[in-house]
Amino acid sequence: MKSALVTGANKSIGFEVARQLAQKGIYVYLGSRNLENGIAAMNKLLAEGLSNVEAIQLDITDDGSVKNARTEIGRKTKTLDILINNAGIYGGYPQAALDSTIEQFKTAYDANVYGVVRVTQAFIDLLKKSSQPRIVNVSSSQGSITLHSDPSYKYYDYKGAVYLSSKSAMNMYTVVLAYELRDSNFKINAVCPGYTKTDFNGHRGPGSVEVAGKRIVKYALIDKDGPTGKFFSEENNPETGEVPW
Ligand SMILES: NC(=O)c1ccc[n+]([C@@H]2O[C@H](COP(=O)([O-])OP(=O)(O)OC[C@H]3O[C@@H](n4cnc5c(N)ncnc54)[C@H](OP(=O)(O)O)[C@@H]3O)[C@@H](O)[C@H]2O)c1
Repeated sequence: MKSALVTGANKSIGFEVARQLAQKGIYVYLGSRNLENGIAAMNKLLAEGLSNVEAIQLDITDDGSVKNARTEIGRKTKTLDILINNAGIYGGYPQAALDSTIEQFKTAYDANVYGVVRVTQAFIDLLKKSSQPRIVNVSSSQGSITLHSDPSYKYYDYKGAVYLSSKSAMNMYTVVLAYELRDSNFKINAVCPGYTKTDFNGHRGPGSVEVAGKRIVKYALIDKDGPTGKFFSEENNPETGEVPW
C-alpha cells in the first residue's frame, strides 16, 4: 500500500487532501501540530470507513516535533511515497510592505518556507526509497511574481508583503529541489488550491475544499511522464493549469 504524509491535515484543505488520498487506498499520516485535533480528524475519517489513516503530532516550525514524527513514521514504514507540504499561515495584519513587522515575516517564513524545508529534508530519505516519489508544495497563485506584476491578474490588488513573499520563496525552493532531483523518479511541483472557503480567510473564499483537494491530489498521483519543477493553478489557467512563477 502506498503511503503519504500530509502536513496540517487536521482541518480544511489538508484534511480534505488526506481524505481523498485515503479514498484512493493510500495509507495517510495526518500531520497535526495539536495531536488531539489530529486524532479528532482521524476519527472522522475512520467513521467514514477509511481505516488507512493515522494521526501524527507534527509542528512544522519545531525541529524536535519534525524529528519525532520522522522517527515514529520510520518505525511503521520503510518508504514514503507522497509528501504534501500543506500547512501554512497567512501571517496576520498589517501586510503592507511598509507596515508589516519583521516578527510577522519571521513567523510566516518559519511555517511557509522553513517548515517546508524542515519537513522535506527530514523525510527525503524515506521518499527516496519509493519507486514513484511525489512532493506537492501547496502554494498560492499569489506567490507568482509574474502574475502579481500583471494588472489583469484577478488578485492584482490583493497584495500582502508577508504572505505573498513567503509563497514566492517556497516556490523557488520547489524549483531548486526539483532541479537537484531531476535525474530521479521524483515529481515535485507547487500547486495552488485556488481561493477556497476555509478558516484561512474567514471562509470568504468562493471555492470548496473538495475542488481544492482534487487539484492537489492530482499532482500527488501524477505518473512517470508527468511534470516536475512546475507551478500549477487551475483557478488561473483552467486549460493546462500551469502558471508562471
Ligand atoms: N484557503 C485558500 O484560499 C488558499 C489559497 C491558496 C493557498 N492556500 C494554501 O493552502 C494551505 C492550506 O490552507 P487552508 O485554507 O486549509 O488553511 P487553514 O484553514 O488555516 O488550515 C491550515 C492548516 O495548517 C496547519 N498549520 C499551521 N501552522 C502549522 C504548523 N506550524 N505546524 C503544523 N501545522 C500547521 C493548521 O493547524 P491548526 O489547526 O493547528 O492551526 C491547519 O491544519 C496553506 O498552505 C495556504 O497557504 C490556501
